[in-house]
Amino acid sequence: MCGIIGCAGTRDAVPAILEGLRRLEYRGYDSAGIAVLDGRAVERRRVKGKIRDLAEELRLHPLAGVCGIGHTRWATHGRPSEDNAHPHTDCGGAIALVHNGIVENYWALKERLKAEGHVFRTETDTEVIVHLVEKHFRGSLEEALRAAVRELEGAFAVACVSSRDPGKIVAARNGPPAVVGFGQGETFLSSDITPLLHHTRRVAYMDDGEMAVLTADGVRFSTFAGAPVAKAVETLDWEPAMVEKRGFAHFMAKEIFEQADVVRDTLKSRVSLDSGRVFLEDTGLQPGVFRRASRVVLIACGTSYHAGLVGKYMLETLARVPVDVEYASELRSRDFVMDRETLVLAISQSGETADTLAALRLAREKALAVLAVTNSPNSSMARAADGLLDLHAGPEIGVAATKTFVGQMAALALFALAFAQARGALSDGQSLELVQELQRVPHKMDRVLGSAAAIERAARRYLACEHYLFLGRWINFPIALEGALKLKEISYTHAEGYAGGEMKHGPIALIDEGMTTLAVVPRDRVHDKMLSNMAEVQARGGRILAVAFEGDDKAGMAAEEVFSIPETHQLFTPFLTVLPLQLFAYHAAAAKGLDVDQPRNLAKSVTVE
Ligand code: AGP
Repeated sequence: MCGIIGCAGTRDAVPAILEGLRRLEYRGYDSAGIAVLDGRAVERRRVKGKIRDLAEELRLHPLAGVCGIGHTRWATHGRPSEDNAHPHTDCGGAIALVHNGIVENYWALKERLKAEGHVFRTETDTEVIVHLVEKHFRGSLEEALRAAVRELEGAFAVACVSSRDPGKIVAARNGPPAVVGFGQGETFLSSDITPLLHHTRRVAYMDDGEMAVLTADGVRFSTFAGAPVAKAVETLDWEPAMVEKRGFAHFMAKEIFEQADVVRDTLKSRVSLDSGRVFLEDTGLQPGVFRRASRVVLIACGTSYHAGLVGKYMLETLARVPVDVEYASELRSRDFVMDRETLVLAISQSGETADTLAALRLAREKALAVLAVTNSPNSSMARAADGLLDLHAGPEIGVAATKTFVGQMAALALFALAFAQARGALSDGQSLELVQELQRVPHKMDRVLGSAAAIERAARRYLACEHYLFLGRWINFPIALEGALKLKEISYTHAEGYAGGEMKHGPIALIDEGMTTLAVVPRDRVHDKMLSNMAEVQARGGRILAVAFEGDDKAGMAAEEVFSIPETHQLFTPFLTVLPLQLFAYHAAAAKGLDVDQPRNLAKSVTVE
């Protein structure tokens, strides 16, 4: 939630900050602002709205300065408004500060600072930080921020500039991500690497409890206690072109069409097509971990939770191991029982989701082995876990997760196969058959994506439909959940995902001509039962769309429209069944003219609880 960016150099920093904010906009988009040191004073521009509104404000009221900070906001404390937009300033207007996170003790701090004479102008928690910096300022912005962060409880990545200590950005991190980029005669701070790619590939990741001072000449790191920190500089292997739309109308469309390659890349060098063996040595997990584990717990939120459910069914079938999938937020509130033989997988595209990260840390405190399954190898989760199963999906900019979901399923399929092989649960022949079919899946995905035009036509035909019931059973129950989530989050259409078997226990009462059922019905072990569900809907006058194998006449007879997918092993059907549902949601939202990549109220990376 929220994106922060900073640039310190010798040329005007405003264009780089504005462009950086555009690339961070997926993290929050209700208001935005920039502050720069223009030589004499701190100047800022802020707007309620999107980065394009900030760009317009800057066109009307230009700003220039060689050192500055910017912010794109997802409101937590205080409604979206110009007043509440960052950067915030101190009483004297000499310090400007941006923040990603939540200050939990802000109320007590605010009361105290007000009693000491500080004047507050916003409803935000962030404003206490800038007043604390002002209070502690004795000539060094670095020391003032150091003293301020010691008083904060909660999560923060902050950056500030001051006309009283010019030419530098001072940053601190405790929770939300912050990465530093080293350019030619300029340095950058950012919430993620995407804004940096156009300036430099050389980066260093700040850790919790660290501060950084950025100038045109370089970056100095230290701990909150003041001890110097030597940081390794890493070289990024992402290309700038990876964060462009490449001719697609939206990032989401581009990312949907990249999905077959994501599966190819996730499998690359991890499977043998001769022996059927799966190699997960790159995860860093000890080889004995699989043999010792008597239970697997998967923790995640949102779409990643749905991938976890698919993983559960794969693990149960292939490795015959007990598996629980838990919402990270719920697990944290419960007296959850985890014994030493429990192997924990934290699944998260961003690797920064606050609840998943906290649940992961809880498991680590209990000395359990934890594997992070993420698309962000330098994220907090990747760093906090014992091992990393990297998705290699490339940057995902659309707020609605698509290619990372498919990457997570591919990673979990590999994990399930490796687990089963380590425990001798699969014969060599079974392993080979499964791995060879998994390798064929991307080609089949491309075939489904080739029918996108038909799905677009269907999405337009059903545009007036206001209520959807997504039904699936067994390994396609999570796909029903995911299909409903995609439709809800980007097209703002009411959709519920249900297990087919649960339909008779309540949702059947909703069926009438105003409710469209989207049945996920590949020919698998529950095919007949799903056909019965479809017949029950049909008998009550409900409209039906179906995702089914090519040539499935029975599904075709019950549904008004069938989105056909090629046949595959029943465990791998989710790779294919999810595609028409993503495309259906995408085209419904695009046809309504909605902001597909930045749906209202959402943020890509939920770093608050
Ligand atoms: C995905 O479309 C959603 N916007 C959201 O549910 C997301 O999956 C969830 O916030 C978890 O994010 P993570 O994978 O980064 O942990």
